[in-house]
Amino acid sequence: MPAPAAPNSASTLPAGHSAPPAATSPLGRHVREGLSRPFKTLSSMYFYDDEGSRLFQQIMALPEYYPTRTEFGLLSRHQEAIGQALRPSSPDEPFFLLELGAGDGLKTKILLRHLLATGARFTYVPVDISSAALEGLAASLRTELPTLRVEPVVADYAEALRLMASRPGRKAVLFLGSNIGNFLPDDRHRFLQSLARPLTPDDRLLVGFDLQKDPRLIRAAYDDSQGVTARFNLNLLHRLNQELGADFDLGQWQHYTDYDPLSGAVRSFLVSSQAQTVHFTALDWQAEFAAWEMIHTENSYKFTRPGISAAAQASGLAVEEFFTDEQDYFADVILRPAR
Ligand code: AVJ
Repeated sequence: MPAPAAPNSASTLPAGHSAPPAATSPLGRHVREGLSRPFKTLSSMYFYDDEGSRLFQQIMALPEYYPTRTEFGLLSRHQEAIGQALRPSSPDEPFFLLELGAGDGLKTKILLRHLLATGARFTYVPVDISSAALEGLAASLRTELPTLRVEPVVADYAEALRLMASRPGRKAVLFLGSNIGNFLPDDRHRFLQSLARPLTPDDRLLVGFDLQKDPRLIRAAYDDSQGVTARFNLNLLHRLNQELGADFDLGQWQHYTDYDPLSGAVRSFLVSSQAQTVHFTALDWQAEFAAWEMIHTENSYKFTRPGISAAAQASGLAVEEFFTDEQDYFADVILRPAR
């Protein structure tokens, strides 16, 4: 029986039809493309299956991983001013509080609690690619903040942006945790532009940026002594085994990471400790790896204050307020459309 050309998105299939074959799924196509390059690469976006999201929760609690607890402290410290900057100036005006990559929402709850206490009228729209993480967040909000209006959305950033544009009304958009650090400079520029585009002059963005600091401290945050970050990185291969029928032997791969102060990027890799061939049953394809060949899996850029202002300006945004912690480790920045 001839198979019809498979559409790219499951949502275009009639109800009851099975998912598209792995070979034409976004992950399948990404893997073939990324592992065919001269320097093999896979996107860090694919870290976050349900297991990856669970491991990232563990990372956020590690002693070496300073960003989460620093941002948590700074949001607590500046909740009043940040709440004020995000909400419409007239107290009765309703607004949407959208959060891209909401995860467990632990840091956001500080702001949610504060906004509710001040009587702000808003709907919280957490967006994440892990449905398990979102369900956990929605369940915890139902018990902890029962009066909050929540509309969770399972989506990637591109879908989230389309969603944003389709919502009329005042918006405050949160992009916390230095998730912005995962973009390469050109992609970051395009992403900030597409965030800025659907905003009206009164809408606001709150973006978290991890700042440049002692390089040893930065490096340690991505190479923790308990090996949780290593498991997080290696889980990507486990995911490919599960979803693409690959035969990665995780015992032959190592986590490697380094901070490059020149570019401001932490780069993470999976290193093949010997020459090997990996088969992808679902793709009917295989990839060869030389001994010590690597797959680049993540960039985590660290920023400077002038760098943040320049990036905002280049994307049609202006820095309205800059909040940081006592040690200047992390910044939460209020951005508005530049006129
Ligand atoms: C979720 C992208 C902010 O880059 O610091 C943590 C992910 N990777 N440890 C980061 C991550 C390895 C994290 N972000």
